[in-house]
Amino acid sequence: MKTSLRFAALMLLVLPGAVMANEKLVQDKQCMGCHALKEDGAAPSFQKIAKFWKGKGNAEVAMVATIRKGSAATGGPHWNKATMPDQSERPLVSEAEARQIAKWILKQ
Ligand code: HEC
Repeated sequence: MKTSLRFAALMLLVLPGAVMANEKLVQDKQCMGCHALKEDGAAPSFQKIAKFWKGKGNAEVAMVATIRKGSAATGGPHWNKATMPDQSERPLVSEAEARQIAKWILKQ
C-alpha cells in the first residue's frame, strides 16, 4: 500500500515533466513552425499524422525516417502537399530524439 502510494506520488511529479520535455523538444527543433497539434497548415497536423499511423507496425520506424531525412527521401510527398525538408534546412534531430518525438506524435 505504502509503495503504491509512493509510486503514485512519484508519477504525479514525473508525468508533467515528461509531457513538457516532449513539447519543448518539438519547439526547440522548430517542428511547430510548420506543424500544429490539431490544425493543418503548411504541414499536416500531428493528430492527423497520428491517426494515420496508429496501429501500423512500422509507424515508429517510418516516422523516425521522415523526421530525420525529410519526406522526399522516404518516398514522399505522402500527404499530397509539400514535402518535409531534410535536416540541412532544420535543427539536427538525433535518432533517439526522433524516436521520442515519434512516440509522442502517436499519442496525440
Ligand atoms: C519546413 C516545414 C516543416 C518542418 C520544420 C517540419 N515538418 Fe514535418 N512535415 C512537413 C510537411 C510539408 C509534411 C508532409 C510531407 C509529405 O506529404 O510528404 C511533413 C510530414 C511530417 C510527418 C509525417 C510523415 C508521414 O510519412 O506521414 C512527420 C511524422 C513529421 N512531419 C514530423 C516532424 C517533426 C518531428 C519535425 C521537427 C523535428 C518536423 N516534422 C518539422 C513540414 C515540416
